[in-house]
Amino acid sequence: MTSKVRTLFFCNSCGNEQARWTGKCESCGEWNSLREHTETRKKKSASRQPVDIVKLGDQTNGGAARIKSGIGELDFVLGGGLVPGSVVLIGGEPGIGKSTLLLQMLARLSADGVPALYVSGEESVSQIGMRASRLVEATDRISVASEVQVDVVVEAARQMGAGVLVIDSIQTMVSEANSGAAGGVGQVRECATNLMRFAKTENVVVVLVGHVTKDGSVAGPRALEHMVDTVVYFEGDLHHGHRVLRAVKNRFGSVDEVGVFEMSGTGLRPVENPAAVFLTSGSAATSGTATTAVMEGTRPVYREVQALAARAGYGTAQRVAHGLDHKRMAVLIAVLERRAGVSCSELDVFLSVTAGGRLVDPASDLAVAAALWSSVADRSVPLASLFIGELGLGGEVRPVPSAERRLVEAPRLGFKRAFVPRGVSVEGLDCTEIQHISELSGVFE
Ligand code: TYD
Ligand code: MG
Repeated sequence: MTSKVRTLFFCNSCGNEQARWTGKCESCGEWNSLREHTETRKKKSASRQPVDIVKLGDQTNGGAARIKSGIGELDFVLGGGLVPGSVVLIGGEPGIGKSTLLLQMLARLSADGVPALYVSGEESVSQIGMRASRLVEATDRISVASEVQVDVVVEAARQMGAGVLVIDSIQTMVSEANSGAAGGVGQVRECATNLMRFAKTENVVVVLVGHVTKDGSVAGPRALEHMVDTVVYFEGDLHHGHRVLRAVKNRFGSVDEVGVFEMSGTGLRPVENPAAVFLTSGSAATSGTATTAVMEGTRPVYREVQALAARAGYGTAQRVAHGLDHKRMAVLIAVLERRAGVSCSELDVFLSVTAGGRLVDPASDLAVAAALWSSVADRSVPLASLFIGELGLGGEVRPVPSAERRLVEAPRLGFKRAFVPRGVSVEGLDCTEIQHISELSGVFE
């Protein structure tokens, strides 16, 4: 065996690998994101084996049966279940519920007789036990281990004949072939490569947990996104009970589906019909609030936008948005001013999406504009109403995809009216067409 030392630079933002340092990442263009990393690779005298070439038609496991995780929302996001031989990365902030979700998944799998192993590099076996005892699921049949050596883990999983292997988290794993510190990009990639090889050769599902901080400063998971088959992110506001599981890459399914969970005292509970979970308002109509319907994959979800326009104290008026892009807010304020004569120039404007949600769907423009106008005018929008429509710079309301699908559940949830782009109508809902933003003026009560 010979050793080779080499110095590399990894981008903290996208995981790009470069041989030299530059101020700006050559791949994603981020400034000052490159970190130096020295690694010592022990070169094994390679014993090359000839590669196996097969005809696609000859291989027997085409259309490999998926393993149901037993958690409906998770299977939905994964596109129908876990695919044998695939590697899934679950990213998310520390404390969001990744370990909890995976322990619940393992409880279901073990109950179904799927040999599954949960390896924690963060907690001791007794700590895992304490956590597991809180869950509703029976967890006594889950196989667990506390270990950080990736080669030891792989060997243990091989020996027990695991069908599913969970690594919590990839940042705690170390490989002997790499001299870097645990959690460094070099180690994370080395360990992930080992685990991927294991997944592919033994046809095992490997689930990697990766912690990501809010500013994305943990390089590990980002660097892994390119390597793994499926990337899902677990999101939510730590102060709210709801958690959203979102696929951002999926070699075996669609990417925009989301699963919604609620954190309870006994683990995560799936919310099977998430349309209404983010609605909070009581029955009283207050100015500055409007509701919209956005699409999360194939499902509609109703979200409330709140706006508050208040006379600016001194200096420049403030613009604060939570859960909404600042630039989008600026555009909508300008459109309101120029196309509807609603001026906010002397006003501080605060916008927020309730329940810690985020609005990225442009179909929510009309609701944001209505909420803002409603606050400026101090008149409320009609009770139990919805707003959908994208706003153009001319103030025109543009049609939105799947308009009917967004609204079809609304009557059941108690909505009576909807303000919509031209040509949209839904049974049970009083639909009013809005073709230009100025027409909103007649809407307020
Ligand atoms: P955890 O799964 O440890 O998060 P991660 O692995 O993403 O870091 O999440 C733990 C949080 O959830 C912690 O704050 C405690 C809380 N929790 C509950 O509210 N109910 C439960 O049944 C469990 C197990 C945890
Ligand atoms: Mg954890």
